[in-house]
Amino acid sequence: MRHLLTLEDWSREQIAEAIAMAREVKAHPAKYADSLRGKTLCMIFEKPSLRTRLSFETGMTQLGGHAIYYDTSRSPLGAGKESIGDTMQTMCRYVDIIMARLFKHEDLLEMAKYATVPLINALTNYSHPGQIIADLQTVEEHLGRLEGLKIAYFGDAFNNVTHSLMFACPKMGMHLVVACPEGAEYEPDPAVLASAQKFAAAAGVPLEVVHDAAEAARGADVLYTDSWMSYHIPPEQKEARVAKFSPYRVTEELLGLAKPSAVFLNCLPAIRGMEQTAGVIDGPQSVVFDEAENRMHVHKALMLLLLREAGRI
Ligand code: CP
Ligand code: NVA
Repeated sequence: MRHLLTLEDWSREQIAEAIAMAREVKAHPAKYADSLRGKTLCMIFEKPSLRTRLSFETGMTQLGGHAIYYDTSRSPLGAGKESIGDTMQTMCRYVDIIMARLFKHEDLLEMAKYATVPLINALTNYSHPGQIIADLQTVEEHLGRLEGLKIAYFGDAFNNVTHSLMFACPKMGMHLVVACPEGAEYEPDPAVLASAQKFAAAAGVPLEVVHDAAEAARGADVLYTDSWMSYHIPPEQKEARVAKFSPYRVTEELLGLAKPSAVFLNCLPAIRGMEQTAGVIDGPQSVVFDEAENRMHVHKALMLLLLREAGRI
């Protein structure tokens, strides 16, 4: 049973196939209007969401299927009355595919042990794989390719989005530079870095972690940032984190160091004046709402590919 747990486990070919399928369903939505008729997606949420929830649910509707929003705070699992194993074994008797947005990545891995239907990681504290497939689709749409591009990420790097970029970008032949403060709580997980370095060496591309934002931005094709206050970060850390991350804010000046053709990405939600200025996110190089739209095309593609591979369609 193939799941999408992290992009570490997916090959370059599998990532490229998902992007190509997303492009196809985006171009020809009517062709897929009945593809998942009678199929049900269960969407398990432990954390808030705008994009992920709406794009999965709308995507499933557009494919002719049905999606159930399952909020763990109203579930036996969330109430501590039922185990992950029993929850999954029950759920898999009803539904054809599951996505989960959780705090602990270990809980997702525990779910995968029992899943007899495809399971998609819709964000854990550790990784956010579907997001990055949509990001790469967006870059390809705007810049025409992935291979050989320089992508620079700024800010919080002990972060799910950063980790997923680190797994995927080197595999796709991209030069990834992560610019973040020094310190284990701000830098990428060392195990992710070690794995990403292997992918970069195999692809023959550089992968760098630097502490100077300007160095990362210079000549970049893509500038990417993410929230400094991810869903799992307690509010009392805000002041200290703003002080730490401010040198990595994506400003017009920083964007000016990149190529004139560069695009700006943020997976959203975003706060103007925090991880980027309003001028950047609302400016002509920002493609953040194309990026948000592509989440839906990617979710449709993932459901089609995984259900086909599982022999359920
Ligand atoms: N980018 C993203 O996953 O957004 P949501 O938290 O709104 O789903
Ligand atoms: N790093 C962010 C991504 C939000 C989509 C978070 O975990 O909240």
